[in-house]
Amino acid sequence: MRVGIDFGTTHTVVALVDRGNYPVVSFDGLDAWPSLIAANAAGELRFGADAAAVRHEPGWSVLRSIKRLLNEAGPQTEVSLAGRSYRLTELLTGFLGALKDDLHHRSNACLAPGEAIEAAVSVPANASSAQRLLTLDAFVAAGFHVVALLNEPSAASLEYAHRYRSTITAKREYVLIYDLGGGTFDASLLKMTGHANDVVLSEGIQRLGGDDFDEAILRLVLAESQLTDVDPATRDLLREECAARKEAVGPQTRRFLVDMSAVDRPPFACGIDDVYSVCAPLVDPTVALLDRVLRDPARDGRDIAWSEVAGIYVVGGAGGFPLVSRTLRTTFGDKRVKRSPHPFAASAIGLAVFLDSEAGFELSERFSRHFGVFREAQAGADVVFDPIVRKDAELPTDGRTPLVVRRRYRAAHNIGHFRFVECSRLVNGRPDGDVTPYDPVLFPFDPALYDRDDLGRQPVGRWKDGPDVEERYVVAPSGAVEVTLTTEPGGFMRTFRLERCAAAR
Ligand SMILES: Nc1ncnc2c1ncn2[C@@H]1O[C@H](COP(=O)(O)OP(=O)(O)OP(=O)(O)O)[C@@H](O)[C@H]1O
Ligand SMILES: [Mg+2]
Repeated sequence: MRVGIDFGTTHTVVALVDRGNYPVVSFDGLDAWPSLIAANAAGELRFGADAAAVRHEPGWSVLRSIKRLLNEAGPQTEVSLAGRSYRLTELLTGFLGALKDDLHHRSNACLAPGEAIEAAVSVPANASSAQRLLTLDAFVAAGFHVVALLNEPSAASLEYAHRYRSTITAKREYVLIYDLGGGTFDASLLKMTGHANDVVLSEGIQRLGGDDFDEAILRLVLAESQLTDVDPATRDLLREECAARKEAVGPQTRRFLVDMSAVDRPPFACGIDDVYSVCAPLVDPTVALLDRVLRDPARDGRDIAWSEVAGIYVVGGAGGFPLVSRTLRTTFGDKRVKRSPHPFAASAIGLAVFLDSEAGFELSERFSRHFGVFREAQAGADVVFDPIVRKDAELPTDGRTPLVVRRRYRAAHNIGHFRFVECSRLVNGRPDGDVTPYDPVLFPFDPALYDRDDLGRQPVGRWKDGPDVEERYVVAPSGAVEVTLTTEPGGFMRTFRLERCAAAR
């Protein structure tokens, strides 16, 4: 069985490849599996629908938005839940393992007992290499055969291509994907020619989604009700109530009502404009980012004219909030904003389309963050940033071949101390936006240090007789980076899989 799996901040959605159709899998009648983990003090864990079932029961604590934790995480990251500490990677593997079990036993996917599941999975466009690796590893550890890892908006673009091919004309061959989910915002500009979908640019805001709208609305309700001292469990109940009321808001809604029985108060009521005012500061940066994507100065010096864009395709649950469509329509015009008929499932369906060789779509991805290293300059007087793989570098299209970058130079120190970072923007040649530092890589250039396992404690000094060094970077189609360092002569070689900095966990 081949499936597309969109592991979301609030919901996980699975779509099948089924003879040219891409049906969304139902779990006990529901088209999404909650992205929840619950635990009790005895150390029992429940995942997905089972976690949702016990979330309000006494003795159970719930971990929401696990995906959000990944962008700050490394392999050793621990999470505390119901008074115990768990390794995040183990929780994620347990979660995906339970998803796999439920696909077999509680879904309409009709899998044969023990049937292997080939999966295409997705991550936010702006996800760091660490998030990509952790996600991929957890899917594999849970027993999925992962055959592709795409960026979420790129996947959604394939759902668009599958459904609306005819809107693309020779004059209007760009589509802008606007993906506002529970926890992340992604925007991608794609060029669609024939069956080829080329990602021109992807940008994202890692911590912006419907969860933040819920929190902003909850803060408004608490402040207006003068409730300052609410315990965490009651706060959780009220946040869920705010989320449910937010989802019920339609274009004609005038009043916003919240049930306050959790705090023994009469219902809270306010005008919808008050709700929109606290949410507008969350919507505005998404529109500003669309603008930036269209006018990216780094792109061959050429802006994409608005007349060349077939439309803005709105996917993700939070895109259903009327303030979002209103702001987009006011800014970009009524006709060009189109909402997916499957806002929650667009990425999962797109992943299934990608897996279906019969559909014949090709997707060429791009590296979605700048990756580089800090280096000493002017004999140690300055530090500069050397970009190694630039954002928007084209990745091989077959989903298997890695991108390889090589650099050679003469070592100027006895020890190479590589401080790798990723970032979403470069400003005046320096990393900017959200910057992800990686564990420093230490490599001995001096043969006398080859066997030392305490390089971090050795004095680093400049060195006249340094060997030639080759750095070979392998960027997997998933966007994860590995570096191999080799000296010449000597042929001393080590490979490092880049992992997130411990200090940032
Ligand atoms: N009609 C609606 N109006 C406003 N918000 C909505 C509506 N329906 C769903 N949402 C919000 O959409 C979010 C969930 O969307 P979705 O399922 O696309 O996210 P996700 O895939 O889990 O998250 P992400 O893609 O960010 O990881 C929730 O915050 C939910 O409250
Ligand atoms: Mg999503």
